[in-house]
Amino acid sequence: MPRLILFLFMPSKPQSFQPALTQIIRRIHFNFSASIFIPSITTRHFFHTAGTLLAGLVLVACGKQEPQAPAASAPAPATRVVVVGTDAAYAPFESQNEKGEIVGFDIDVVKAVAQKAGIEVKFLNPPWEGIFNSLGQGDRDLLVSAITITAERQQTMDFSAPYFDAQQLIAVKKDSKIAKFTDLKKLKVGVQNGTTGDEVVTKLQGKENVNIKRFESTPLALKELEGGGVDAVVADNGVVVHYVNNNANSQFKTISDTSFASEQYGLAVKKGNAELLAILNKGLADVKADGTYQQIYTKYFGAAPAAATPAPAVSK
Ligand code: ARG
Repeated sequence: MPRLILFLFMPSKPQSFQPALTQIIRRIHFNFSASIFIPSITTRHFFHTAGTLLAGLVLVACGKQEPQAPAASAPAPATRVVVVGTDAAYAPFESQNEKGEIVGFDIDVVKAVAQKAGIEVKFLNPPWEGIFNSLGQGDRDLLVSAITITAERQQTMDFSAPYFDAQQLIAVKKDSKIAKFTDLKKLKVGVQNGTTGDEVVTKLQGKENVNIKRFESTPLALKELEGGGVDAVVADNGVVVHYVNNNANSQFKTISDTSFASEQYGLAVKKGNAELLAILNKGLADVKADGTYQQIYTKYFGAAPAAATPAPAVSK
C-alpha cells in the first residue's frame, strides 16, 4: 500500500494523473482478480474503482487498519455485470423479438447459468464480423453466438465446456438436383462470412473461389437462396431447420452429409480469463444437473437433448 500512495501522489500534472491511476487500478484488478470481468477500464469503472481506492487511502492516512483489497472486498454490483456479445440474427439461438429484446436458446442458457452463478449479465448485439476481436479488446466479457469450438479459435480465446452439438447442413431449393456436399464443388454457395460453414465450403472450393458468396448473416444467405442468387447454403443445422420450418414459402429442402464433422458450441471468454470460465463451467454443470438446461432445450427444439454433451471434441 505505501508504494501505491507514493505512486498516486507522484504525478504533478493533472493530465498525467488519470493514466497513473489507471495503472494502479489495473494492478489492483490484476492482483485481486475479483474484477477480472473488466478487461478494460471504462470511465465508469475508472471512477468507481478510483473512488473505492481513494476511500481506502483516506482510511490508511487516518491510521486505521489497512483495509484489505478495497476493489475486491467492496460489493460492487456495477462492476460485476458481465457484458455478453451475441450476433442476434441466428434464430433459434439468438434473435431479436418484435420488442427488440434479444431472445433465444443461447440467451436462456446464459441467463440460467448467470442466475446459478450469481452474476449479472447484459446482452449486446454486435455483428458477427469482428465479434471475436471485441473479446480481445475487452469490450465484451463473454460471447454466446452458437460459436463452434475450433482448434483455431482456441488459439485466441478460451471456451467453456461444450453446451450444444451441431453440424453443417445444406439447404437447396426443393426441385434442386444437388444430393451431396461434393455436388457443390462448382456451384454458387452462400455462407455466413467467417463461420464454420464458410470454412467447409472454402475447403471444398478453394479460398479465392468467386462462387463462394459470403454474407454477414445466415438469414441473408438463405434469402439469397430464395431469390435464386445462390444454388445452396451451408450453415449450422439448427438455424437452417428453423428457417425452413418458419418460411414455408421458401420451398427449401435440406441435405445432410456424412463428411461434415460434428461441432460443439461453447461460451467464449478472453484468453486467460480463467475465473469467469470456471464460473461459467460450474453454472453450466449446475443447470444440466438440475434439469434447467433440458427444459430450455425442449422449449426450443421440442425434444430433450439426445444425451449429455460429450467431452470436448474440437473440430478443425
Ligand atoms: N457455429 C458457426 C460458427 O461458429 C456459426 C455461428 C454463427 N453464429 C451467429 N450468431 N451468427 O462458426
